[in-house]
Amino acid sequence: MTAVAGGAAGSRVALVTGGASGIGLAVVRRLAVEGYRVVVADLDETAGEAAAAEVDGRFQRTDVRDPEASLAAVSLAEKAYGGLDLIFLNAGVTTGTAHVETMDIAAYRTAMGVNLDGVIFGARAAIPALRRRGGGTILATASLAGLTPMPHDPVYTANKHAVVGFTRALAQQLEPEGITVSCICPGFAETPLIGAEVARFRTAEFPLLTANEVADAVLVAAHSGGTGEAWVVQPGRQPQPYRFRGVPGVAGGQAPPEEIFTG
Ligand SMILES: NC(=O)c1ccc[n+]([C@@H]2O[C@H](COP(=O)([O-])OP(=O)(O)OC[C@H]3O[C@@H](n4cnc5c(N)ncnc54)[C@H](O)[C@@H]3O)[C@@H](O)[C@H]2O)c1
Repeated sequence: MTAVAGGAAGSRVALVTGGASGIGLAVVRRLAVEGYRVVVADLDETAGEAAAAEVDGRFQRTDVRDPEASLAAVSLAEKAYGGLDLIFLNAGVTTGTAHVETMDIAAYRTAMGVNLDGVIFGARAAIPALRRRGGGTILATASLAGLTPMPHDPVYTANKHAVVGFTRALAQQLEPEGITVSCICPGFAETPLIGAEVARFRTAEFPLLTANEVADAVLVAAHSGGTGEAWVVQPGRQPQPYRFRGVPGVAGGQAPPEEIFTG
């Protein structure tokens, strides 16, 4: 991979959490090819430094469970590159168990902290910076497990559904300010996250996504201009926003008056 120097006046600036590995690393590379200056934010210092060096970017050691760490990463983007245009809130872990009744509570807190708090704290840190830029893009990595139940990890299913709901609600709020908010929902992708299962997928001849295919979808979503979308990414298909069915409202179709929430 050839590093893209970037640095020209007016370069767009992106921040990628979980950018040291897998999908995040593939997105870091793609963004650099597109001319973005990139800040890599990750818990893994060695791999994170290497990813940033590869694209002539910057690394910030970040535990996305910590709101201050997200603020520090956004601050680095603004100090180093003059602003922030796109944040990809992608750091994630699996829970490692299907069994809620015996689940280790610390593992539960980690899974919720990384997959849900990390997205919310990242958005919280990025919104003022995107406003200062006059608009921008928030993209989060949910999962197919954010749209459909995955019984082998109910807690992962819960926090990924929460990411879908969070991004859809935030999108409506921020649309007037030119800030788009969407998420991507990949099926199984060959990354270290599912390392132990890859051989079993192969034996079953079940197709896996590559991290690069997911990164392509992330770039499509980022540049689509759409907001409040949950992009389904599956092997052999074009990425596409999921079409949610409408939820039945009150009989007669009346919507709750806005002043209930703002008064
Ligand atoms: N691989 C899949 O099959 C798949 C499918 C759907 C969604 N996803 C989601 O994609 C995202 C990326 O996962 P991946 O498959 O590339 O996995 P990965 O393990 O290759 O990468 C995850 C990255 O997140 C970082 N990270 C973990 N905890 C962190 C923390 N507390 N703070 C900061 N960084 C932290 C890791 O160091 C790593 O660099 C995750 O949100 C995951 O849930 C993955």
